Amino acid sequence: MEMSRKAANLIAASVSLKPDAVLGLATGDTPLGVYKCWIERHAGGEIDFSAATAFNLDEYRNIAPEAEQSYRRYMIDNLYSKIDMRPENRHIPDGLAADPATECERYEKLIAGCGGIDVQLLGIGHNGHIGFNEPGGEFVGNTHLVALSDSTIDANSRFFRRREDVPAEAYTMGIGTIMRARMIILVASGLGKAEIIHRALFGAVTPAVPASILQFHANVTIIGDAAALSMIDGI
Ligand code: GLP
Repeated sequence: MEMSRKAANLIAASVSLKPDAVLGLATGDTPLGVYKCWIERHAGGEIDFSAATAFNLDEYRNIAPEAEQSYRRYMIDNLYSKIDMRPENRHIPDGLAADPATECERYEKLIAGCGGIDVQLLGIGHNGHIGFNEPGGEFVGNTHLVALSDSTIDANSRFFRRREDVPAEAYTMGIGTIMRARMIILVASGLGKAEIIHRALFGAVTPAVPASILQFHANVTIIGDAAALSMIDGI
């Protein structure tokens, strides 16, 4: 798909220019095309991830890393098993960490210790969430534990046998963690995202629409298919 190819190329260019780039990666259906493009290009010898590092945006709490629905497993199945990024350079919050506060601090320090994120890939939830930063009364800065909203649990229940199986909580990079990335690429596809994309980009900047904060980022690129961008005039 054209959209995925563009996003994949932008990030691949960053890795070519800086082989030890620090990438922020996302899960969900939308980034899958980006990962497919990278896998093809890697197989063709065009991209080398061997010096790159990656941090995932989020992970469910209380989910085993090998569980089918864990984001760690998603990353292995959809990307890591098919490229050459070193296992010690692939990071994701530990869903089974004993103490959430310690885990959040560890993750945040690890990102800072690697020099921060060069390029952050983002999807967007139907309610405007980025990572798992759900709509709320304030923007939360650093990696933290969140209670997932009903609409997110509904949306993500498609990956679980029963709605009750969807974890109630998740770890997510905070809005500050995301905004500190030097470059952000948000991908969106389908008519179901059209309204939220419009609100996020042209509405008020408010924690009620977490993605709206991206209006204040100096280097953000939105890449969408025609349906997702259909409410934006002039496109
Ligand atoms: C999940 C992830 C988000 C992702 C969102 C949208 O909730 N935590 O990071 O952006 O889903 O996913 P999709 O691309 O499948 O619509």
